[in-house]
Amino acid sequence: MLTFVQKLAAMVMLLALPSSMSAPSQTQSPPPSNVYDLIIIGSGMSGLGAAKRAKELGVAKILILEARDRFGGRTITQPLNITLPPNAPAPAAIDLGAAWIHRISGARGFNPMAKVANESGSGYVTTSEAGLSFDPKGVEDTDLWDSTLQDMLDRWEVYYEKYLDGNPKDSDSLLTVYNQFIQSASWSTLQKAALLQGLTTEIAMDYAADLSQLSGPWSQSDQNWGNGPDALPLRGYSALISYLAANKTIWTNYVVDVIDYSNPALVNVSGRILKGPGTGAKFTLQAKGVINTMPLGYLQAQLAPATPILFKPALATNQSAAIKAMGMALLNKVVMVWPNSSWWSGIVTKPWLTMRNSTSLGSFSEYYNLAATGVKLPVLICFNAGSFAKGVESMSDAVTVSSALGPLRRLLPAGKTIPPPVQTIVTRWASDPWTYGSYSYNKVGVSSNTRQKAFAPLGTQKRVGFAGEHTHLLFPATAHGAYLSGIAEAERLAPLVM
Ligand SMILES: Cc1cc2nc3c(=O)[nH]c(=O)nc-3n(C[C@H](O)[C@H](O)[C@H](O)COP(=O)(O)OP(=O)(O)OC[C@H]3O[C@@H](n4cnc5c(N)ncnc54)[C@H](O)[C@@H]3O)c2cc1C
Ligand SMILES: *[C@@H]1O[C@H](CO)[C@@H](O)[C@H](O)[C@H]1NC(C)=O
Ligand SMILES: *[C@@H]1O[C@H](CO)[C@@H](O)[C@H](O)[C@H]1NC(C)=O
Ligand SMILES: *[C@@H]1O[C@H](CO)[C@@H](O)[C@H](O)[C@H]1NC(C)=O
Ligand SMILES: *[C@@H]1O[C@H](CO)[C@@H](O)[C@H](O)[C@H]1NC(C)=O
Ligand SMILES: *[C@@H]1O[C@H](CO)[C@@H](O)[C@H](O)[C@H]1NC(C)=O
Ligand SMILES: *[C@@H]1O[C@H](CO)[C@@H](O)[C@H](O)[C@H]1NC(C)=O
Ligand SMILES: *[C@@H]1O[C@H](CO)[C@@H](O)[C@H](O)[C@H]1NC(C)=O
Repeated sequence: MLTFVQKLAAMVMLLALPSSMSAPSQTQSPPPSNVYDLIIIGSGMSGLGAAKRAKELGVAKILILEARDRFGGRTITQPLNITLPPNAPAPAAIDLGAAWIHRISGARGFNPMAKVANESGSGYVTTSEAGLSFDPKGVEDTDLWDSTLQDMLDRWEVYYEKYLDGNPKDSDSLLTVYNQFIQSASWSTLQKAALLQGLTTEIAMDYAADLSQLSGPWSQSDQNWGNGPDALPLRGYSALISYLAANKTIWTNYVVDVIDYSNPALVNVSGRILKGPGTGAKFTLQAKGVINTMPLGYLQAQLAPATPILFKPALATNQSAAIKAMGMALLNKVVMVWPNSSWWSGIVTKPWLTMRNSTSLGSFSEYYNLAATGVKLPVLICFNAGSFAKGVESMSDAVTVSSALGPLRRLLPAGKTIPPPVQTIVTRWASDPWTYGSYSYNKVGVSSNTRQKAFAPLGTQKRVGFAGEHTHLLFPATAHGAYLSGIAEAERLAPLVM
């Protein structure tokens, strides 16, 4: 049976290469024995970071198990259906998951994703955060609005700092704090509306959760890598993934169902082959160390039943409770592609565009204009976040795209129409069964150390560790946080498994 599985695995390696831009080479054959030094669950940025570092440190037998039929997890670069001029700066492709390298440089030096982007041959272009904002009638926002918004965000910042210094309650949401602020003085209707718009755009969209769901004290306890600009990898994040996946042993379509760490020295990893050759076959592999990068949303779904089976022995109640207390956010994209950007190039001249919606804040109102960035693609992306985005997932693609086009029509003079996009892509990350959301956040109710408690290593010899964006204390919700968490976990486990 085991030899059978190994043969299957070799076949899977040859046959189940992911298509298109995310197809790296897999050149190693499976090791003869069933016992690995290190098994890494997941081929996202964290799993590949872990594999790279473990290999550098001399760990010999490393195996990556991936449930999907492709590598990369929450990074996926989708080729577009358009022909660009021969001198175009970037290929026609769009990231459906992570897109930016946030803050490419600063006191910590270069963001590690910038280095990987260069090593992969993709390179990157820095982007500006400049934007335009239009009121619900489609009129560009006035200086009065802009200055009121900025003034209110500045006042909020001062208030929020004081709030943090004053023994805040873990049970507060950010909405609670907003309401306290609003009651702290008598503000004009304009001031209140501007602040709510500002918090929606700057915080709720960014953390991709509602103000009522974000923790008052802890939702913004993450850090920026640096203070430099953001950047876009020119060939998309899949180029980085392909580079990191090269020369690694990755078995796609392998779903891990049980991590049994009851034996202190050797961990059993079991599961099933989901599709391709050997569909339905069960496997059990053994490893001296395991790095589990299953996303937070997936872990929460596994821990939801009364008797979860993912971990054997079951997680301690406090650890399981900590994982469940965290929040899984939701950010979705509506990608709209035209042959060229001529219909908006004279109107939307900045990368960011806000089409304000005063009755349903943040709904189909944030856009990114790739034509005004260094990749110069004729593409507009509309973002939705939080519970609104969750509701949109049950709408059809056609209705979703038409809702995203609606506010844009207000930009054009009466009688002019938007040419139909030649291609559209609608993401649904909450419905994705291998993540159930976009990235983690500190949800109302968590404490300062919930994230740390949630992802403490397991077993008397701590041979099962966690990595992934959700485990990084400084840079959660980012590609570089995921990558660094994998590296750190490889460094912790390497001495134990060699
Ligand atoms: C829409 C969106 C936009 C984003 N934008 C940015 C951005 O601009 N910049 C940025 O830095 N970050 C961004 N992020 C966040 C970034 O994508 C993630 O933080 C990062 O990619 C997570 O990497 P990971 O390795 O932790 O998880 P993943 O990439 O999810 O990898 C985990 C892997 O585990 C696999 N897996 C799950 N369950 C099993 C199982 N049972 N058995 C085997 N394998 C399993 C999954 O299929 C997946 O491949 C964005 C995310 C989304 C969704
Ligand atoms: C990436 O390459 C560009 C162009 O050569 C260079 O300017 C930049 O400093 C490099 N970045 C890193 C992180 O090495
Ligand atoms: C505001 O959003 C709601 C809900 O999506 C929508 O029905 C309405 O048309 C939007 N209003 C404007 C001005 O875009
Ligand atoms: C993969 O291995 C081959 C052969 O050893 C080597 O030529 C190549 O540079 C390696 N690729 C990467 C990205 O490490
Ligand atoms: C782990 O798997 C091996 C091989 O299948 C098996 O012999 C062993 O009993 C398993 N260990 C535990 C603790 O289940
Ligand atoms: C731009 O695309 C439109 C269709 O959206 C087309 O009618 C027009 O001819 C194109 N313009 C150029 C300069 O290619
Ligand atoms: C790609 O473009 C062609 C021609 O414009 C069109 O027929 C086809 O439906 C498009 N495919 C997608 C996936 O949008
Ligand atoms: C859970 O509680 C036990 C017993 O009180 C303690 O030893 C352990 O460190 C706690 N685990 C976490 C992750 O907090």
